[in-house]
Amino acid sequence: MTDRTDLPATGSPPLRHLLDMSNLSRDAIEEIFRTADSFVSVGARQVRKVPLLRGKTIVLLFFEPSTRTRTTFEIAAKRLSADVVTINTSVSATAKGESLLDTVRTLQAMQSDMFVVRHRDSGVPHLIARHVDPGVSVINAGDGWHAHPTQALLDMYTIRQHKGDLAPLSVAIVGDILHSRVARTQIAALGRLGVTDIRVVAPKTLLPQEIASLGVRVFHQLDRGLADADVVMTLRLQRERMSSALLPSEREYFRFYGLTPKSLRAAKPDAIILHPGPINRGVEIDSVVADGPGSVILPQVSNGIAIRMAVMALAAGPTPRQQPVESETPR
Ligand code: CP
Repeated sequence: MTDRTDLPATGSPPLRHLLDMSNLSRDAIEEIFRTADSFVSVGARQVRKVPLLRGKTIVLLFFEPSTRTRTTFEIAAKRLSADVVTINTSVSATAKGESLLDTVRTLQAMQSDMFVVRHRDSGVPHLIARHVDPGVSVINAGDGWHAHPTQALLDMYTIRQHKGDLAPLSVAIVGDILHSRVARTQIAALGRLGVTDIRVVAPKTLLPQEIASLGVRVFHQLDRGLADADVVMTLRLQRERMSSALLPSEREYFRFYGLTPKSLRAAKPDAIILHPGPINRGVEIDSVVADGPGSVILPQVSNGIAIRMAVMALAAGPTPRQQPVESETPR
C-alpha cells in the first residue's frame, strides 16, 4: 500500500519564501488551506506519511526558544518524507562567533533545500532569503516583533474550521499587542480574508504607535472590546521583549484583561477562544477558560502540522497536478 497525496490544482504562482503576509493574496491563503485540508487526512492514517518532499533537506534554524512551532515543523517535514535537521544554535558554531550568513552558507553547502528560521531580531528571515541560492526556500518561523506567518495561518485555519467563512465574524485580539509578532500577522491575515470587525483590547502601554493605521478598532476596556465577539484571541505578556515595567503587576493585568468565565460573558455564548501559546494561566487566561468548551487552543496546535506541511509542500514540492487525492491509494 502506498501513501500518495497530490496538491490541489492551482493557478497561483508558486510560493518560494514565506516571510510575512505581504506576499500572500486571499487566493494564496485559500490554496494553503485547501492543501492543509488534504494533509489533515494524512494525520488520520495509520502511516502518517506522504512522499512529496522525499530527497529534500530541510534545516530548522531556531535562535529563540520554541516548543509548538519547532516541533510541528519537524513533524510536518517528516510527514512529507523530507530529511530534517534541527540546529541547536546554543551548541552550533554560532556560539563560536560564526556569522548568521556564514552559518547559512555552510548549511547550504550541505545541499539544504529549505531553511525554517526563528530569530529574536525582526528581518532576519528576509536577510537570509536575499542571500540563499535560487531554488532554496526560507520560511519565517517568527522574527522579533515583526511576523509569524505560519502561526497566523494556522489561527485563521482553526477559525475557519469552527466558524466557516471568516468575513462576517467579529474578532477581538486581547493583550500584549506591542511586542506581538503574532498579533501583527493575525491582523494582516484577518484583513486579507475580508474580516472588517477587528478589535484590539489592551492597556495603552501595550499598544504600538502604528495601531491606528492597521484598520482595527482599539479598546482599553475588556467588556467593550469583547461585546458580541465571535472569536477571542488572547496573547502572552512577552516579558522577554519588555525593556521597562509596562504594567503594575500580573495580578492587576489579570484583573483587567484576563479571560475568565465572567469577562467572556460579554462575547457571544458560542465564541471560540484562541491562544498561540505558551499560555500563562492566571495571567492572561483562567484555567477554566483555557480548558473549557470554547477553547480551541489544542486544535490550533494540531492544525499547525497540516498548515506547515502545506506551506513546505507548496514551497518545495513537485509541480501541482490537476487531481487532488484525498486518501490512501492501494496499489
Ligand atoms: N506559538 C508559538 O510560536 O509557540 P512556540 O514559541 O512554542 O513555538
